[in-house]
This record gives sequence, structure tokens and C-alpha cells, in this order.
Amino acid sequence: MAQGDKKEIISRDQFFEQNRDAARAMGADDALQRDALDVLVQADRHRWIHQTTWFGEPILNLPQDIMAIQDIIWRTRPEYVIEVGVAWGGGMLFEATMLEILGGKKVIGVDIFIPPDLRTRLSQHSLLSQRMELIEGSSTSEETLTHIQNILQGSTNVLVVLDSNHTHEHVLNELRVYAPLVGKGHYLICGDTIIEKLPGQAHGARPWGPGNSPATAAKAFLAENKRFMVDLEIDNRLLYSCHPGGYLLAIA
Ligand SMILES: C[S@@+](CC[C@H](N)C(=O)[O-])C[C@H]1O[C@@H](n2cnc3c(N)ncnc32)[C@H](O)[C@@H]1O
Repeated sequence: MAQGDKKEIISRDQFFEQNRDAARAMGADDALQRDALDVLVQADRHRWIHQTTWFGEPILNLPQDIMAIQDIIWRTRPEYVIEVGVAWGGGMLFEATMLEILGGKKVIGVDIFIPPDLRTRLSQHSLLSQRMELIEGSSTSEETLTHIQNILQGSTNVLVVLDSNHTHEHVLNELRVYAPLVGKGHYLICGDTIIEKLPGQAHGARPWGPGNSPATAAKAFLAENKRFMVDLEIDNRLLYSCHPGGYLLAIA
């Protein structure tokens, strides 16, 4: 911290404490939050959320959220990450990079449709390819869940990212069936809660929208499951996020 030509030395802990206080104030700054949401809504018309890539593969997520997931993986060191909804595979590839560096086991990707060229592309990333396993099927089917449990072998050192069909009913179902896989201190990310705040027409012909979204599902889930809470510290510091109120931490 420069003060005139003198430098005030603060500890790393103090640095983080100052950041936490500042993020809390930012989270409570309604005018700034409104402006940020306005930018997100306007930019959504230009496919902003679709512009991010990891090692060449699209991730349908904002860089802010990818940094948040990076921080979660660093802090919680999951053995497994379950990416529910794979799309182009960039999210899986990013998580596999983290596990490869930090010594985790596998990223399990679940999608109702896995085109052959996605399998081919994800198989061309040398060491990272060995860290990824794809399961084709609906995220909530018994077959898919049994397949996942066979891989986990009882481990609850697990991060789950839910990002598939975004209707209230489907996400609530996913939250209920994936929650038991997540141990204390780990995260269940309810993706795309931002849908609740985007104008109805932004969703085109899709069955979800405000009032029928991951945010309404997360609210219903949190009312019935006291083992999880929203990690507001993450929300506070992101400002731009696809998953506000969706970073759910297992506290028991
Ligand atoms: C938003 S994209 C996933 C984006 C990806 N997580 C990322 O970060 O790049 C949603 C994906 O969910 C898949 N999906 C839709 N319904 C599903 C279901 N019932 N079970 C599993 N996957 C589903 C779609 O095929 C699509 O690829």
C-alpha cells in the first residue's frame, strides 16, 4: 500500500481480510450490482457467456465463475469433480487441468448427448484425457447415478457442478440426488441461477425462465436441506456471475 513515498506493509492475512470486507461492501452496493446485472443482460445478446475457452474448447461460463471454481478446487482439493452438462467439454478440461496439477482423481462428465467428435477432441489432451470420463445419459436416471457411484467408490471428496436442463423440476431433482455425493466442506454448484434475473425473451424457446429456473430450485432445495448454505463470500467478490446464490457449501 503506497502512502506518499512510504510503503505500509500488511500481512497476507490482513490483505485477505481487507478483500473480504471490500467484497462484502461490493455485495451490498445495490447500484453497482444493478449496473453489473445490466451489463450482463446487455452482453448476453452478444453471446458473452459463450466466449470463454480452455485449451481451445468452449466453456459456457464466465471467466469470473471459472476463477471461482479454480479457487474452490484449490481450497477443497476434491478427488472427483462431476460436471453435469458437458456441452463442448471446456469445463471438464479445465477441471481436469486442476486435478492433474493438484493430484485429484477424475472429472466425470454427464450429458444426455455426447457426440463422437466431443469424445475424440477430449481424448487428444494427453495426460488430461486420462483424468476425464464421460457418461452418456440423463443426469437423474438411475443408470447414470449407479455408474457415478461405481466410479466414486464411496468417496465424498467431491465437487458437483450442475449445468444441464435448467427447469425448476429438473434442477431440484438433481440437487436432491447429487447432494448426498458431496461431503462436508465441499461444494454443490447450482449453475445458471442467473436465468432468474434475465428477461424472459433471453431464453428463446427454452422451457426455463424467471419463475422456473435453477434459482427457484436452489431456494426450494435450501428450504428442505439444512446441510447446505449459499457461500456469499464467493457471490460478493464475483460481481459478474452466472451462478449468484448457486455456490452451495456443505456445512455438515
Ligand atoms: C449449458 S450446457 C453445459 C455447459 C458446460 N457445463 C460448460 O461449462 O461448458 C448444458 C448441457 O446439458 C445437457 N443436458 C440437457 N439435459 C440433460 C439431462 N437431462 N441430463 C444430462 N445432460 C443434459 C445438454 O446436452 C448440454 O450439453
